[in-house]
Amino acid sequence: MTKIQYYFFFLIGILITRHSLGQINSHIPEVEILLEKMTLEEKIGQLNLLTPGGGVVTGAVVSKNVEAKIKAGQVGGLFGVSGPDKVRMAQEMAVNHTRLKIPLLIGADVIHGYQTTYPIPLGMSCSWDMDLMEEAAKMAAKEATADGIMWNFSPMVDIARDPRWGRIAEGAGEDPFLGSAIARAMVKGYQGQDLTAPNTMLACVKHLALYGASEAGRDYHSVDMSKIKMFNQYLPPYKAAVDAGVASVMSSFNDIDGIPASGNKWLLTELLRKRWGFVGFAVSDYTSVNEMVAHGLGDLQAVSSLALKAGLDMDMVGEGFLTTLKQSVEEGKVTEADVTQACRRVLVAKYKAGLFDDPFRYLDPNRPKRDILTAENRALARKLATRSFVLLKNHDQILPLQKSAKIALIGPLADSRNNMLGTWAPTGNPDLAVTILEGFKHVAPGADIQYAKGANISNDKDFAKKVNVFGPRIQIDKRPANLLLTEAIETAKKADVVVVVVGEATEMSGEAASRTDISIPESQKKLIKTLVDTGQPVAVVLMSGRPLTIREEFDLPIALLQVWHPGVEAGNAVADVVFGDYNPSGKLTATWPRNVGQIPIYHSVKNTGRPAPDEKFQKFTSNYLDAPNTPLFPFGYGLSYTTFEYSNLKLDKQEIHQNESLEIQVEVENTGNYDGEEVVQLYLRDVVRSITPPKRELKGFKKVFVKKGERKMVHLTLEPDDLKFYNGNLEFLSEQGAFEVFVGTDSNADLRTTFTLK
Ligand code: NOJ
Repeated sequence: MTKIQYYFFFLIGILITRHSLGQINSHIPEVEILLEKMTLEEKIGQLNLLTPGGGVVTGAVVSKNVEAKIKAGQVGGLFGVSGPDKVRMAQEMAVNHTRLKIPLLIGADVIHGYQTTYPIPLGMSCSWDMDLMEEAAKMAAKEATADGIMWNFSPMVDIARDPRWGRIAEGAGEDPFLGSAIARAMVKGYQGQDLTAPNTMLACVKHLALYGASEAGRDYHSVDMSKIKMFNQYLPPYKAAVDAGVASVMSSFNDIDGIPASGNKWLLTELLRKRWGFVGFAVSDYTSVNEMVAHGLGDLQAVSSLALKAGLDMDMVGEGFLTTLKQSVEEGKVTEADVTQACRRVLVAKYKAGLFDDPFRYLDPNRPKRDILTAENRALARKLATRSFVLLKNHDQILPLQKSAKIALIGPLADSRNNMLGTWAPTGNPDLAVTILEGFKHVAPGADIQYAKGANISNDKDFAKKVNVFGPRIQIDKRPANLLLTEAIETAKKADVVVVVVGEATEMSGEAASRTDISIPESQKKLIKTLVDTGQPVAVVLMSGRPLTIREEFDLPIALLQVWHPGVEAGNAVADVVFGDYNPSGKLTATWPRNVGQIPIYHSVKNTGRPAPDEKFQKFTSNYLDAPNTPLFPFGYGLSYTTFEYSNLKLDKQEIHQNESLEIQVEVENTGNYDGEEVVQLYLRDVVRSITPPKRELKGFKKVFVKKGERKMVHLTLEPDDLKFYNGNLEFLSEQGAFEVFVGTDSNADLRTTFTLK
């Protein structure tokens, strides 16, 4: 074979691989022919993404004169429109009224389910069940496409280590290894094998990049981070989505190295396209191009041309591209070739979605009824919710409850329909959610259940006003607080056991919902304390979109079940776990701090040069005067109604060479009284390397079911890449030397062994 032949076949190989991954190469003959016919204005029109309002609104402004703009060929895509009839109307405007009849891309934020709302993503991630999450994404795609939507602004894979940031709710927590696995599962679930199939949709990984690292946990705030930290800790999940063939990428609001992501050429071209080989299209976040004006990078024309030059292809809502790019071409600030390239990428996406073959392929009027909110979908939402709950404490085995018990069900979230779906569920309908009270009655019809509100979510009217932007989430009772409390005490006293449902209202987390105090609001803290003081056994069901600081509550003699915001099947799922139909198996995917002062806190911290020897304070070591270094709950933590014991940790080799994998086995015994699932976790420490290593990092996990009294041998594999990291030159490699392996039930796992990489 000559050298030229070799390279030719090599190239074809790459193209075929990309094609099979869903990343079709950007030069499609049909698209090229179309591009030839397009005027500059028509190309610019394709880069414009609008939201007409009227339906779901997810930002501060909505687009104007959308119909006229579509007909004038000035719109490439829409979001916030759904249903076969409405989407058909929009699609007909594009296809029947414009010169080149180019169909629209129809997008939506299908973040945790479409109309069948699953638990919030942070909750879902606590299931550590990749198959289930893939199935959930597939189901969400089926529902959304039934409503005419073929492009999803999900998965959100921002690593978040600061629970003050409200959007921690939307991602998979703090860990890049787990986050990458979830990113892959979700892209696979949404996109399937064939993007033209009527039940699959283009995914959009977001928010590139580092959005979860905004300073002080304040939303939209600046980000400043070393490249080493980025590459090792924050970028892997975005890359995993790209490697899985994600069709599009959304740029984030924050700046990176002083340049906002939407205008950051290093990010959108050097890293994303050149280094990672991404061939899809990049869309801005909501008006994030325009926001570069406020960031201080120039006027709208300047920031729009900066974004295009950086490699951004589509402008969400801001219309900076639409209104300034022509002038920028005329003035030589960007070239027509730049516009053509961006347009090509948008058109290729439409081609991938099969819209050129049939612009109406997602518009079967019979599908919504057939595919949306079916019993099957709701069953999946319920299953997923039960798997997302984390048992944080179970004093005196208060849980599970007897189905014949006399129960006082108390708390502002015990009978609240409005707060069950959680943040970023714009396509869901809170009215369809099952309340906790209803769920208890369904699952335990023989129980005697008495309800009392007990407290308001918060007594603070101003706070409530800020939270109630999308509807009445915090409803302050007309009755005075002490009356609510008295009623609760009386109800509690008459029962065998108290279940108190407390925590955050839906919009106390999510976008633009940062908090500096992440404890349970005072009114509810008082309620919990008062109920415990009655002497009755108390189980706290805790809802939130983020890790909370619950030091005081944790010290009480209670059971504590963290249920996040569980979605449309909330009440049924909570009851399934509270009454023991499902034994909880969720494990935290973000560390829970003892107090806000410990933030950022995460399991893969470094040792430092002065590690504190133990939990006791020691001067001149790295610790605090007023709190230990350890969190309240470590990453990976979660109890079960049963207990598991680990033993016999073995490796198949003591020494391995680079590019060799390592087999690990460990025995897990169910030593308690219930069958149950356990997430077996593997952590690795690279003892000596050229850049400071974390104390330990997650590098493997497996969820296993073990019957009571049984032992199971669990096999895990360390792949060569699991030993690699980005060094000071940003090369991805492993270095020779000793590694420590820890296996166990959470990130404090203490079953340990070692091996050497030769
Ligand atoms: C802003 C959010 O940051 C992003 O996640 C979302 O996809 C867009 N709005 C569109 O709703």
